[in-house]
Amino acid sequence: MKRTHHCGQLRLEHVDEEVTLCGWVNSYRDHGNLVFIDLRDRSGLIQVVFDPEYNLESHRLARSLRCEWVIACRGKVRPRGQGLENPKLATGQIEVIVEQLDLLNTAKTPPFETDSADQVNEEIRLSYRYIDLRRKSMQNRLKVRHQVTKITRDYFDEQGFWEIETPMLGKSTPEGARDFLVPSRLYKGNFYALPQSPQLFKQILMVSGCERYFQIVRCFRDEDPRADRQAEFTQIDVEMSFVDADDVMTVNERLIARIFKKILGVEVPLPVPRMTYAQAMDEYGIDRPDLRFDMKLKDLSDLVKDSSFKVFTSVVEKGGVVKGFCAPGGGRYSRSDIEKTMTEFVADFGARGLAWFKVGAAEGGGGLELKSSIAKFFTPSQQQQILSRFNAAEDDLILMVADQVETANKALAPLRVRLGKELGLVREGDYRFIWVIDFPLFEWNEGDKRFDSLHHPFTSPVPEDLEKLDTDPGHIRSQAYDLVVNGSEIGGGSVRIHNPLTQAKVFDLLKITRQQARDRFGFFLKALEYGAPPHGGIAFGLDRLVMLLTGTDNIRDVIAFPKTQRGQCLLTDAPSEVDASQLEELNLRVQKHLHQLEQEP
Ligand code: AMO
Repeated sequence: MKRTHHCGQLRLEHVDEEVTLCGWVNSYRDHGNLVFIDLRDRSGLIQVVFDPEYNLESHRLARSLRCEWVIACRGKVRPRGQGLENPKLATGQIEVIVEQLDLLNTAKTPPFETDSADQVNEEIRLSYRYIDLRRKSMQNRLKVRHQVTKITRDYFDEQGFWEIETPMLGKSTPEGARDFLVPSRLYKGNFYALPQSPQLFKQILMVSGCERYFQIVRCFRDEDPRADRQAEFTQIDVEMSFVDADDVMTVNERLIARIFKKILGVEVPLPVPRMTYAQAMDEYGIDRPDLRFDMKLKDLSDLVKDSSFKVFTSVVEKGGVVKGFCAPGGGRYSRSDIEKTMTEFVADFGARGLAWFKVGAAEGGGGLELKSSIAKFFTPSQQQQILSRFNAAEDDLILMVADQVETANKALAPLRVRLGKELGLVREGDYRFIWVIDFPLFEWNEGDKRFDSLHHPFTSPVPEDLEKLDTDPGHIRSQAYDLVVNGSEIGGGSVRIHNPLTQAKVFDLLKITRQQARDRFGFFLKALEYGAPPHGGIAFGLDRLVMLLTGTDNIRDVIAFPKTQRGQCLLTDAPSEVDASQLEELNLRVQKHLHQLEQEP
């Protein structure tokens, strides 16, 4: 029996048509005289009915069916009886009365029901990923992912970009994470590195005159997975010649706008606004601000430095800051919510404490005042200044961290997001896009007494700051840009250095010696000497983009076969030991770990 329709496709207009459907038994109800089955394929569900009076043989076979068995059936579409329609189902007005049933395959009892997989432990879902992926929500995520790559390819094709593949087996690139290494059989003792990104290859493609490149490409970084991070992930990678930062941002924000429009029907206002790194850090404490709600951070150091609260004054004297934000309606939090839950939360980010004021009506009547065990250390006028800096209203909660500015930001930024969500300030379906620009080129690494690149070592300084390479490297702004949506960095890129002398200076500041530079990326520096055009580009995290589009905060939900937090594939049981002969061929020997030796008899 070849199928004529997909299950989810049938409607009232198909009534009286003879159809053949294939799929899985989603659920069955045996009423003795009638058997009802919800049949499922990729397109959805439909009710099929077996009636002994219609066909005795099919009805007999139908009674033996179980969940997830695979069947084909031929029958007639008919309207459901009066009052028996199911408004929750797209096909709920009709059913198929079956004439012929073929059992294509049986199935073991699944470890969980597809419909209730949301409540199942994720490890079980990952071990039985093929069952997990049968769920409608998971199928939708795979579909959206496909649509995003299709829109991307069409868009870049229209814009004159070529998709060009770059090697997976390559040389270590300095993207900042640990490499995955692959031993070479032919060159014993030598290793390939899997690409952390195609950064150097795409720049070399610009030297090759390709002008407009893109690639949907797998990248590998051996870092611990997180909710939005996998060791193996996918980028939409882009590079362009003879452009400035504006050109790259314009072409790419149009792609993102098209994706949001086509998938969600959401209009992204263009051009996407821009915010400097300095402003983002000041007002949100982080370089990927969530702009769905206001609640900006304010520096109170000038207002509190003359108070009698020693914790604040001594931090300010030592060059630290007192920063905080005002949570509207946060007065409803209890003292233990603040002094226990929130304080422990910020402690995880390195803050030694969390100070707070509730905003209440002034005791003497008229106006507002601060209420807290520390309020007494602030004069009425200092209190009024604090209230007015936040434009605070009755029942608000002011939360503050006194520390070095980096620590205060690190603690306040996630607390702000947490409270924004808890207080219901985040509206479902709201997407706030921002380009964060003017990043510093370097950050000082006190431990190693050298500069580190904030993006990567190939990022170009803004032209006005070029001369600071010799005089004031800590204050050079780079031509880097990140696209941030709702607090998630979905893409980042830069205009690159195309001048070999500038590139060499940057390596010097990073304390990469000429010898190291030659060993690690000599091939690339050489390419820059053969007529490199000015160029720049960007890469988007495809997984993160699909997470946003499908409303999940778990990156594993948007990858068909992801790794766990501990880097394992539970379906295939990778990573695993290999045969001794494979190791021998590679001239490798594995040192046994202590715990393995202990297990041996
Ligand atoms: P970057 O390292 O910022 O830039 O990566 C670009 C985007 O890729 C996504 N991303 C990740 N997604 C999931 N898991 C990970 N481990 C992970 N790491 C990064 C993020 C990020 O914005 N070569 C440069 C780009 C360039 O300069 O053109 C690069 O790789 O969404």
